[in-house]
Amino acid sequence: MQAQQSVDHAITSRRSVRGFLATPVPRGVIEDILTVAGRAPSGTNIQEWKVYVLTGSAKQRLSASVLAAHDADYERKKRKEPPLHAEEYQYYPRQWFEPYLGRRRKLGWDLYGLLGIGKTDYDKMHAQHGLNYTFFGAPVGLIFTIDRRMEAGCWLDYGMFLQNIMVAARGRGLDTCPQQAFATYHQVVGAALALPENEQVLCGMSLGYEDPAAVANQLRTERAALSEFAVFRD
Ligand SMILES: Cc1cc2nc3c(=O)[nH]c(=O)nc-3n(C[C@H](O)[C@H](O)[C@H](O)COP(=O)(O)O)c2cc1C
Repeated sequence: MQAQQSVDHAITSRRSVRGFLATPVPRGVIEDILTVAGRAPSGTNIQEWKVYVLTGSAKQRLSASVLAAHDADYERKKRKEPPLHAEEYQYYPRQWFEPYLGRRRKLGWDLYGLLGIGKTDYDKMHAQHGLNYTFFGAPVGLIFTIDRRMEAGCWLDYGMFLQNIMVAARGRGLDTCPQQAFATYHQVVGAALALPENEQVLCGMSLGYEDPAAVANQLRTERAALSEFAVFRD
């Protein structure tokens, strides 16, 4: 029973934290989390994950490069010029539809509502989005890559590894935010980390201790009822 409570608590207390304390995470703790996460299953045990662990000046350098690109693209947008940076892979459907569109909108409105950002406060939205690239102040930034020769099934495995990191972090009183935002600037990330050509940037993740005073961390997301996604058949 104890194990069930611990596991369930680690899973259900995980949420995306968007404001961290500067408190460092000891290297040994990061190593433990990643070692535990590496127990994730993968088809035929190929373990197709690779993670770059950034702290200190390495993290600052990456943040500065990506933020510069993010700001430059915002200036281009204001001049009605196309952005220089875009995702390498398509995360979302090209055309939204329900119920996903409504859920997505609710998240945006709830977060921006908490932060007092109105629907046309584009500068504030840009600044808030830019916090992604500082890893929301977390002392540890993770960048995940996958060999681009891997196919869609391998991304299933990868998701399990990512979730393991987030749950293992919770078990140690740490918080995370998975961040697809980094995929937009994959070329900048690739250059900053000197990634080999075969490595594709999947996403990033912030890791650290939650700042309880950060307003964004008041956000609590909802989930659909079991009956909306589970079909029981006898
Ligand atoms: C793969 C993935 C990528 C995400 N990318 C971002 C991101 O770039 N920035 C961000 O603030 N949140 C990001 N999120 C967090 C989601 O918005 C969040 O998981 C969702 O709203 C549910 O909230 P919760 O994580 O607090 O339960 C991402 C989540 C996942 C799983």
